Amino acid sequence: MEDLSLHILDVVENSTKAGANLVEINIKEDTDKDLLQIIIQDNGRGMDPKMVKRVTDPFITTRTTRRVGLGLSMLEQAAQEAEGYLTVTSEKGIGTEIRATFQASHIDRKPFGDMGSSMISLILGNPGVDFIYKSDFDGEKTTIDTRAIKAELDGTTTISDPAVLKLLRGVFEESLRN
Ligand SMILES: Nc1ncnc2c1ncn2[C@@H]1O[C@H](COP(=O)(O)OP(=O)(O)O)[C@@H](O)[C@H]1O
Ligand SMILES: [Mg+2]
Repeated sequence: MEDLSLHILDVVENSTKAGANLVEINIKEDTDKDLLQIIIQDNGRGMDPKMVKRVTDPFITTRTTRRVGLGLSMLEQAAQEAEGYLTVTSEKGIGTEIRATFQASHIDRKPFGDMGSSMISLILGNPGVDFIYKSDFDGEKTTIDTRAIKAELDGTTTISDPAVLKLLRGVFEESLRN
């Protein structure tokens, strides 16, 4: 996986699979601290401590038998390649928070890639889920809350209307520095 936007898509799909109906995606970059953080919070079914331990385990002993597509370990690897780390906080019945930290300027820090496409796929693929997207690049902030957008649309237009999606895609794309 070459782009952070694909990792985000993958990790948010864990949230929707876990029955979340609200997922918050928070992207923060601080140039002075050379820090990039991606935080994904959901209100899905959560994990017990044993499972949390398992998903953050470096899988050293099972590496050869690991099946492809373990999204969290791949995101952890991406973070570690950029001198960062991944933390998972979860409570059964409450929800989960995934936090990936990167050295922003690190040569091996993956670019965001096509964040617009990832967010549009999530919105279109999960009509029963609302998304809060927040980015903050050195204080330059963007917020998109699908609940607010849905509330503002009149009865004849939905969030999956091509014109609405095009507008949203532009906002997602402009919110990032790749
Ligand atoms: N947000 C989440 N809420 C509840 N369980 C989760 C969440 N994210 C991951 N999990 C659990 O951790 C497992 C591993 O996730 P992941 O590394 O993405 O691999 P995969 O999705 O391929 O199983 C999931 O199968 C699920 O049981
Ligand atoms: Mg997954």
